[in-house]
Amino acid sequence: MDILRIHGGSTLHGEVEVSGSKNAALPQFAAALLSSEETTLENVPDLSDIRFMGEILEHLGAKVERCGKNTWKIQPLDIQPDAPYELVRKMRASICLLGPLVARLKRAKIPMPGGCVIGHRPIDLHLRALNEMGASVTLNQGVVEVDGASMHASTLFLGGRHGSTVTGTANAIMASVFTPGITMLDGAACEPEIVDLCTMLGKMGAKISGSGSHLLKIEGVEKLTGCKHRVIPDRIEAATYLIAGVITGGKIRVNGVNQGHLGAFIKLMNESGVKLIEADGAIEASISGEGLKPFEVITLPYPGFPTDLQAQTCALACTIPGLSILTERVYPSRFMHVPELLRMGAEVSLEGSNAIVRGGKKLNGAPVMASDLRASAALILAGLAAEGETWVHRIYHLDRGYELLDLKLRGLGAEIERLQESALPPAFRSPID
Ligand code: EPU
Repeated sequence: MDILRIHGGSTLHGEVEVSGSKNAALPQFAAALLSSEETTLENVPDLSDIRFMGEILEHLGAKVERCGKNTWKIQPLDIQPDAPYELVRKMRASICLLGPLVARLKRAKIPMPGGCVIGHRPIDLHLRALNEMGASVTLNQGVVEVDGASMHASTLFLGGRHGSTVTGTANAIMASVFTPGITMLDGAACEPEIVDLCTMLGKMGAKISGSGSHLLKIEGVEKLTGCKHRVIPDRIEAATYLIAGVITGGKIRVNGVNQGHLGAFIKLMNESGVKLIEADGAIEASISGEGLKPFEVITLPYPGFPTDLQAQTCALACTIPGLSILTERVYPSRFMHVPELLRMGAEVSLEGSNAIVRGGKKLNGAPVMASDLRASAALILAGLAAEGETWVHRIYHLDRGYELLDLKLRGLGAEIERLQESALPPAFRSPID
């Protein structure tokens, strides 16, 4: 296992290029299964989750070829419907294979995803949608088995307790592309990653209207072709670098961004005293003359403030004098970063799904444990702002979702290095659990 050692206190400056979006690319790999022809995906981030997805597609029978760092070709001539537990358990997003497998083969067998550290993540809305489309869904020894032989056009509602479901919407869209007649999906997620999936499916010949709204209309077609598609930029990665600039008192320009995808984040930063300059495809962030102000933020489905930026924003709040409140409405218990931030001297209390931050105390470097992808990013940001050394353990979580984050931060002036945990004295290694 690798760890990151950060020597805090450097002010970050410069420009960084944003990578392709993980959460857009993963369902697009799955969507490639909808045609027997070759699909080329460009701007795919180089991440372990993407490589897992490639392995799963290969297991399903697709020919998967990586051409250079960020381009993948997928040709699923003959595929089979049974995804193996050993691969699927490594990544929750593999559940978005259900839709394309049922659409193309009329059956699918995918192990049910297990527990997740960011909170309870059921798939009841995915299964309810398939059911309402006329598929028979059973759970057999932990494996979801879907028989889609009797699927028919229908009108269904995708919303749940916490709003719309992103991968559930992706699954429902993909499941219905071949269903004769009109399928209406109400309460659909309108995240940019869903819009990008619809754009790709449109290139393949699918007839989808309403993308970007909560009501999607899908007119079944007989066949889809392969396509060439460029994955959208990663809005969460872009915002993470902007926070890195602000938290260290520097100025960072992130290139290759779609500003339209970051509306709620940009609004919060503006209100908190961050000076943002938006140019074509780039955003530059620095602290305004008035200094940073504490803030209140609530995470919500898009276009609300993204839950995937809550942990990083929490790290920023720890450095701003005054009381900030972060409320989680998507994953009410996604606060695993908080106990680790406390180890660095942050003052944060958790009350239900609220994190109450008394910010402004200088953070101190400490050995900390990453629990998930976005918590890893938050701890790195805190480490950049802290005095002394921070050791971030379990950064395999980070490598699932941020392409070369340590190298990109180094390019901006951060003192950050990747070490092999086995090379460290025992006292510095992670506890075994
Ligand atoms: N939910 C249900 N039932 C379902 C599905 C979801 O109750 O059947 C609940 C969830 O428990 C959660 C809420 O609905 O409270 C939203 O979950 P959603 O289904 O939208 O999440 P997801 O599709 O599993 C994607 C991203 C997550 C991101 C969420 C929310 C991918 C691969 N993952 O997950 O990304 O946090 O949407 O925006 O697209 C990350 O990148 O770090 C990450 C966790």
